[in-house]
Amino acid sequence: MLIRRETEADIETIHDVTEAAFAARPGGEARLVGELRADPGWIPALSLVAEVGGAVVGHVVCTRGAVGGGPALGLGPLSVLPSHQRSGVGKALVHTVLGAADALSEPVVVLLGDPGYYSRFGFRLASTYGITPPDDAWAPHFQVRTLSAYTPAVTGPFSYAAPFDNL
Ligand SMILES: CC(C)(COP(=O)(O)OP(=O)(O)OC[C@H]1O[C@@H](n2cnc3c(N)ncnc32)[C@H](O)[C@@H]1OP(=O)(O)O)[C@@H](O)C(=O)NCCC(=O)NCCS
Repeated sequence: MLIRRETEADIETIHDVTEAAFAARPGGEARLVGELRADPGWIPALSLVAEVGGAVVGHVVCTRGAVGGGPALGLGPLSVLPSHQRSGVGKALVHTVLGAADALSEPVVVLLGDPGYYSRFGFRLASTYGITPPDDAWAPHFQVRTLSAYTPAVTGPFSYAAPFDNL
């Protein structure tokens, strides 16, 4: 497996992989990825694909968000083709994007997801850090992974890049 940055040639495949991973929500996350790519919050260095045997089978992206008045990253969507799930692709993508975010001196990565999956990567409930979700109902699934540039001053309400509002 290779993890690398997306290129223009990957865009259609990323759409298809995302649509397949989120088959229960047609036109949801796959459309979101396209909207994010056109948004000022898009960070090219943080859109990564997983390639197996020359084919893209997974994708992850972090985009510009904010906590309080400062910068933060929102992680997602994270997608792995159903045929390739449970073979370590998601794990490789998450570890790699966290390393890339840390190298960019980002303080925190925020996401909405299952703590049963994301706790293995060091994500903890955002409430632990005084970081609050846009919707209170998200609290049990709203998580933060702190990076090297984190300080306890990073607190307050989190906001995603604008396209997440349309999801
Ligand atoms: C969630 C997803 C990205 C995981 O990717 P993956 O490549 O299958 O994951 P990995 O192979 O790296 O890890 C698999 C492990 O995670 C566990 N896992 C997967 N989803 C999980 C979940 N929601 N809760 C708890 N554990 C989960 C599996 O049980 C497996 O554990 P095991 O190795 O102990 O058996 C993938 O299943 C996917 O694309 N799902 C559909 C889209 C989605 O839900 N994305 C995340 C939204 S926040």
